[in-house]
Amino acid sequence: MTIRTIRSLEVAGRRVFVRVDFNVPLASDGSVADDTRIVATLPTLRYLIEQKARLVVASHLGRPRGKRDPAQSLRAVRERLEKFLRQPVAMAESIVGPEAEAAAKGLGDGQVLLLENLRFDPGEEKNDPEFSRKLASLADVYVNDAFGAAHRAHASTEGITAFVADRAAGFLMEKELSALGKLLQTPEAPFVAILGGAKISGKIEVLQNLLPRVDRLIVGGGMMFTFLRAQGRETGRSLVEDDRVETARAVLDGPDAAKVVLAVDCRVAADVSGSDAGVVVAADAIPKDRAGVDIGPASVDAIAAVLAEARTVVWNGPMGICEVPAYAEGTNAVAREVARATKRGAFTVVGGGDSLAAVHQAGLEHQITHCSTGGGASLEFLGGRTLPGVAALEGEAAARS
Ligand code: 3PG
Repeated sequence: MTIRTIRSLEVAGRRVFVRVDFNVPLASDGSVADDTRIVATLPTLRYLIEQKARLVVASHLGRPRGKRDPAQSLRAVRERLEKFLRQPVAMAESIVGPEAEAAAKGLGDGQVLLLENLRFDPGEEKNDPEFSRKLASLADVYVNDAFGAAHRAHASTEGITAFVADRAAGFLMEKELSALGKLLQTPEAPFVAILGGAKISGKIEVLQNLLPRVDRLIVGGGMMFTFLRAQGRETGRSLVEDDRVETARAVLDGPDAAKVVLAVDCRVAADVSGSDAGVVVAADAIPKDRAGVDIGPASVDAIAAVLAEARTVVWNGPMGICEVPAYAEGTNAVAREVARATKRGAFTVVGGGDSLAAVHQAGLEHQITHCSTGGGASLEFLGGRTLPGVAALEGEAAARS
């Protein structure tokens, strides 16, 4: 990796613009419902504070589309951040302009200023050069720790780097790139990928990029029914992406077809709301009037057998409609099996909201080598795409060398 990290930066007494991803879920009372992403940035923030930097912390939250929306304010995040950092965190309402500049200039060593939601300004998502320049003018140094937003070419993730010479990746960015990079570059064999989630369409690049690299690729979740249809099987009322059946068939007829592991059984229900707990049937015996809602126990056993040998595992996407407790067993079982693989010494990476929720609910997050904070970002990375937020940091490293 040719990216500078914050260890190589001189930050004492200097203002550091730290882009983080505090795009966290809020509860109905407006409080932070899940602080995982805040906790994940603490090593970077604490390091910079210890080094006597003056921190201008910035993030987006939700998709307010360039307008102020009190329901998507970072105020609740600021409260949580103050608790974690055990120090006051000032807040600038104006993001850029004289008020934000005065607040940034007023920072003392080790003090923290949190800007209001970057997406309240239309310049952020437009990657507007003028907005980027104004953001850059708040600080002397730029640190990007927002891996979760690195797939967005926005003013604070990409445009700003044209205006700050001194820039580097934070510890979280470094950790994410190292863990996900290892999957693509130096995975120890056997390498097993488990892909789930509703649709093939959101995962096709990941599937195609991983398939040549892995030893086995397990397909679960809603997307397995498109594969079953491609095999000519009855899928009943299960979710099938008609326009992806050919894609699935190409995978099943392709050079790596033998690596693909499909579910051998699944839970089916008449009504996917959860009022019908459903029954388990063989994957080739789905009744016409039923929809698949989860993988079955024989599939879990098959996955466990594949994982028993694995040295590297990546898992993204639930095995069924896991938000319905009656259909969550397959997803929960895979979470347990991936944790077991870690205990046996495998390098394991989990990404994606539902897979991570299953890991958290089971209290297994410390039994996974790396839980990625990036949803879309980790999928784009694993799909082989260049992340604009990362490329912008790399550009500087290349120019320096
Ligand atoms: C995420 O939650 O994936 C990131 O924060 C990016 O958010 P976005 O999809 O709204 O750009």
